[in-house]
Amino acid sequence: MDLVLFYFFCALLSIFVLYRNQRKEAAKGANLPPGSLGWPYIGETLLSYSQNPDVFFATRAKRYGEIFKTHILGCPSVMLTSPEAIKFVLVTHANLFKPTYPPSKEKMIGPQALFFHQGDYHSHMRKLVQSSLSLDVIRNLVPSIETVVISALESISGGHIVHTFHEMKKITFDVAVLSIFGHLENKYKEMLKENYFILDKGYNSFPVNLPGTLYSKSVKARRRLGQILHEIIEGRKEKKLVQKDLLGTLLSSRDEKDQPLKESQISDNIIGVLFAAQDTTASILSWILKYIHDDPQLFQDIKAEQKAIYEANDGGKRPLAWAQTRNMPLTNKVIMESLRMASIISFTFREAVEDVEYKGYFIPKGWKVLPLFRILHHNPEFFLDPLVFNPSRFEVGPKPNTFLPFGNGVHSCPGNEVAKLEIFVLVHHLVNNFRWELVGSKNGVHYAPFPVPEQGLPAKFWKESSGKDN
Ligand code: HEM
Repeated sequence: MDLVLFYFFCALLSIFVLYRNQRKEAAKGANLPPGSLGWPYIGETLLSYSQNPDVFFATRAKRYGEIFKTHILGCPSVMLTSPEAIKFVLVTHANLFKPTYPPSKEKMIGPQALFFHQGDYHSHMRKLVQSSLSLDVIRNLVPSIETVVISALESISGGHIVHTFHEMKKITFDVAVLSIFGHLENKYKEMLKENYFILDKGYNSFPVNLPGTLYSKSVKARRRLGQILHEIIEGRKEKKLVQKDLLGTLLSSRDEKDQPLKESQISDNIIGVLFAAQDTTASILSWILKYIHDDPQLFQDIKAEQKAIYEANDGGKRPLAWAQTRNMPLTNKVIMESLRMASIISFTFREAVEDVEYKGYFIPKGWKVLPLFRILHHNPEFFLDPLVFNPSRFEVGPKPNTFLPFGNGVHSCPGNEVAKLEIFVLVHHLVNNFRWELVGSKNGVHYAPFPVPEQGLPAKFWKESSGKDN
């Protein structure tokens, strides 16, 4: 009961503060962007939840154009839909907009993870993360990624129904572990996996730290992850090995004051990279499997491209070479088109750190600002027949700032080449050695919170040589 009263009081307080702020903006005669803020506190949140979020944003983008205001999750917000407006916020005026996440999410991942920061700390940590995910480092990961992918595909290829998204998550977790730790003792890999998956389950739950709730289980799992990482870090220090993976890079680096990084900075960034790498890549992999499956001609064409590489490697006896992964033009176009169609990061959040003016519109300090990537990717002005899956549209490069699956500017994705590499490797082995069939194939989308094919894409897999009846 106390809790109910507490929430009631919080809601009243929020209504009061938001009304006062809105009146202040109105009094200033500020030219706020067009759009409706809806009811205070509840705003348009209920509407955005009751509708498909794409429809919610798309109808408003159609009505108001490149910039409009709304109220989401109790926050007055400005939505951006044009290449210019998004570039303004993410690139040319990035210093006026800070990344913003709910405090419960920051706590769960670790407050020192780079994506919660801006300025010197962010650019310092980003350089380290970026260098450990550079082409020069990840090119050495090809054989290990192959091992992960082949063993995962074999484990699901009994012809039984699997939840594709969950299976893809296991692969993307293992690949993220490879890029963070290089080789890691099995014992630690299993401990990390067990606890990370508990954390993951509660990440989007209601943040009440009461015994038995998903949230409280997540918080405990996060604590255990810190302890496991401590053991791994101590082991590495003892061995005095200098490695180029993320952990090695963080351990051998110093902060802006020339001090070694604190253990909490290292572990928050490791959990951060695991988090950023797993669901995103698993979601796009699930979509790619669906898109290829749904288009038999595309499947044949991709198979021809991948078969040629397979034959060049003596029928798969020799491992895939890095240079081969860089030369899969059709598969590359399919990845780009899948990223556009699925737009798995539909939008991102920023917050204005001061009052900002954009093309005569006033964005008040403290308001949330959301670049809407999906609206951009589905705009017929930039992508003809945007809802048709057509990889050949990427035969010519997209117009500048219209295709941003990995974001843009100082916070753009440093892991994009790792993601693409694991997709290339998976598609190569999947089409050469396996078959898959979707079960009850539907076209719906489930928001988990990234868009995933309905029900996680139930499917059956077989090893090619074993025949479908096995
Ligand atoms: C298809 C898969 C992926 C997609 C679509 C994706 C997309 C994105 C996007 C849009 C951002 C920018 C968010 C913003 O501006 O607020 C981002 C940031 C980030 N991504 Fe990815 N990502 C993917 C895979 C990965 C992988 C595999 C890794 C690591 C191995 C990774 C690590 C990161 C990190 C650390 C950031 C934060 C960068 C910063 O704040 O400076 N991502 N990602």
